[in-house]
Amino acid sequence: MKLNWFKSGVIYQIYPRSFNDTNKDGIGDLKGITAKLDYLKSLNIDIIWISPIFQSPNKDNGYDVSDYCAIMPEFGTMSDFDELLEEAHKRSLKIVLDLVPNHTSDQHEWFQKAKLSKDNPYRDYYIWKKPNDNGNSPNNWPSFFSGPAWTLDENTGEYYLHLFTKYQPDLNWENPEVRESIYKVMRFWLDKGIDGFRMDVVTLLSKEFKDVKPGTGFRKIIEDYYANGPKIHEYLHEMNEKVMRHYDAFSMGEGVGVNQDNAHLYVAEDRRELDMIYHFDILENNIVDGKYDKITNFDLLNVKRIFRNWEKVIEKGGWIANALGNHDFARIVSRFGNDGPYREESAKMLITLMATQNGTLNIYQGDEIGMTNINLKSIDDVNDIQSINFYNENLETKKFSKEEALLMINNEGRDNARTPMQWNTNANAGFSEVKPWLQVNPNYKNINVENQENDENSILNYYRKILSLKREYDIFSYGKIIELERDNDQIFAYRKIDTEEEILVFLSFSENEILIEYEFNKEKDYNMLINNYKFVTKTIDKLTLQPYQAVIYKVE
Ligand code: GLC
Ligand code: CA
Repeated sequence: MKLNWFKSGVIYQIYPRSFNDTNKDGIGDLKGITAKLDYLKSLNIDIIWISPIFQSPNKDNGYDVSDYCAIMPEFGTMSDFDELLEEAHKRSLKIVLDLVPNHTSDQHEWFQKAKLSKDNPYRDYYIWKKPNDNGNSPNNWPSFFSGPAWTLDENTGEYYLHLFTKYQPDLNWENPEVRESIYKVMRFWLDKGIDGFRMDVVTLLSKEFKDVKPGTGFRKIIEDYYANGPKIHEYLHEMNEKVMRHYDAFSMGEGVGVNQDNAHLYVAEDRRELDMIYHFDILENNIVDGKYDKITNFDLLNVKRIFRNWEKVIEKGGWIANALGNHDFARIVSRFGNDGPYREESAKMLITLMATQNGTLNIYQGDEIGMTNINLKSIDDVNDIQSINFYNENLETKKFSKEEALLMINNEGRDNARTPMQWNTNANAGFSEVKPWLQVNPNYKNINVENQENDENSILNYYRKILSLKREYDIFSYGKIIELERDNDQIFAYRKIDTEEEILVFLSFSENEILIEYEFNKEKDYNMLINNYKFVTKTIDKLTLQPYQAVIYKVE
């Protein structure tokens, strides 16, 4: 295994709508990103992944594309994009765009034409089926965002498939013209000079219409019915052959429904499909089934097992991407750390964990300052279609009370990660001069970039430091991990070694002080690389960790 720029590089994900608004319409824009490139550079990240910026009616905030080769007017113009790309490259920052190949918007020209008649040349761009014998949906598939995955088109009397909302019809990848059309889009952006794609739900491209066994939980439905379809590897190999391999660019597949046993089929280098798979096991470690219904307590032993399991994919010649959070999940410090008294310590501890695991690290905007969940007071304040659909469906099923449903949305809903970036103490957190499209977290007066710039012990400056260490020492990005305290459910500790370097990492997930035994080798030097406290209590055979303490030693 050899590291290269996209394996050791750190990805910073931008949700453009919420990043920085420059033209005072309350919506983040491309110029807003360009204006912050120096800030991004200062974080010691390498690659910027921008969530979709293409023309879209925004039913799912850009994940419903109506023109893949046009910029969403709210975000700016193509020349704004060209400028962003050029300015990023000037600073040696790479740009990765979000390709949404599984579905389009229902407003896309292809779908508008496909709907006209059964014999329209675009009909076969989508997946149509006749009603079943009782005049209902062709099969019993549920969609990701509540309700059935089929909607009847009254005009032609057939149903179309949409694994997400009815505004996001699935493309028919069986049709070679569809595949070629997407490849053309990819070439369009790659020829402009972008450095790769994050590929949205790319594991779902190939469909096999088996009826879902009643009672199957949604996570299982994704794994067993929606993802990993019979032709998926054929398609991805073709995509690689026809497009990706001709560019110095990489692909990061969103690995929904992929597990540690089949992931190598997507990413083993000799298969020439994807360059890395962004898996969900860490993100969903406490989500039993679907997002809202069943959340378990954080279980460190489970998290350790997940990291251990995914090592196998790398052993089999593949590469993975790790993330604790993104625009689809609640804030990491609220989910896995402590967003109360230990917010700073736990935010620093979590990045220490992520920066020392094997795989490409993805950071999500705002996590570098420890942004937290927001507490929305009423369903009218909720923007996210997934949360709204969940709430409305629940009004019918009455599985939960209205209050419970809102509480679940506040705990796990996607808006938590989508509140505007908190830049300073000005109105609207400095994100915009006018009222933003989604409310700002009221804690911005305390949690913002400007405050943390001025504090050498801030989360922000800790991120900078650890990412600079990661850049300096390859052992952070790749090496053999030897776990210590394996059965300890409060402490994650490991040695990491390769032929030249060794580090020793201690991470506490506890709110209490914890004493652990570790025999430091008297013959060796343990140089502390980073510590999220000002001190550490260590003897030759013991270490006492403070609440959420994180320490890394370089062993020489
Ligand atoms: C992915 C995106 C999510 C989107 C969905 C449908 O999971 O990350 O935001 O809603 O795909 O495109
Ligand atoms: Ca704007």
